[in-house]
Amino acid sequence: MADAKIKFEDPFLNLVITRKRKLYKFAHFDSYKNTFSFARGDTRYSLDKELDKFFSTERARILEIAAGNAQFSLELARRHPGLNFVAADIKSDRLYTSAKQAIAEGIINIAFVRLNMQELCNAFKPDSFNHIWLTFPDPYLRARSIRRRLTHPTFLSLYDKLLIDGGSLNFKTDSRDLFLWSLEQFVKEDWQINELSFDLHESNLQEDYKIMTQYEQRFTDQDIPINYATLLKN
Ligand SMILES: C[S@@+](CC[C@H](N)C(=O)[O-])C[C@H]1O[C@@H](n2cnc3c(N)ncnc32)[C@H](O)[C@@H]1O
Repeated sequence: MADAKIKFEDPFLNLVITRKRKLYKFAHFDSYKNTFSFARGDTRYSLDKELDKFFSTERARILEIAAGNAQFSLELARRHPGLNFVAADIKSDRLYTSAKQAIAEGIINIAFVRLNMQELCNAFKPDSFNHIWLTFPDPYLRARSIRRRLTHPTFLSLYDKLLIDGGSLNFKTDSRDLFLWSLEQFVKEDWQINELSFDLHESNLQEDYKIMTQYEQRFTDQDIPINYATLLKN
């Protein structure tokens, strides 16, 4: 009887703990010096100004959008201390772990930003970034959700504004359907496909591209090939 009591797991209790953990992360996100937020209605470019203060040195900037837990940008920041990285996602509880880790390791060339991508051009001035990484965005494959895809022409025009001349959009996804649809959009919107692979980890492309995001790790463990493209705006 005693054993049965010890083994009993209350699924609702787990749910509450998970929710509590999430709320804890939400609450603590803003308390770190490397975390920032931008919401609709905030002063235009106020985030940009805060980041200028945070990054003590002006260097090339790389933005990752829909960064999730941002382990990809954090590893890039470790490898490239001479560049500045910004990892953005709408969900701060996902960014929280890497923000905490960056502080623990004394990595000062990365900032974590809670931001809805629709606010990109209010948050950042034009020509703010040398490269933009779009990593495993939700594919939104239903026709009625097309406008929510982060490679929709509406978003591509935002990325175009934010990139310096000659800057690149770097895109990886497990979804072959999203990838093929996105390639069509890039061509239609006058982006040049500079590098392309339907199986990134078997390709000769740069090792940095192969740093795994959290989702990429999961897909790769299931032998799902990763689609990758580097895009330049004509
Ligand atoms: C499938 S996850 C991928 C996360 C990460 N890139 C990875 O590969 O592990 C998609 C991410 O996009 C974020 N996201 C979706 N729509 C967004 C939006 N409009 N603005 C900002 N982030 C968004 C979600 O919060 C989620 O973290």
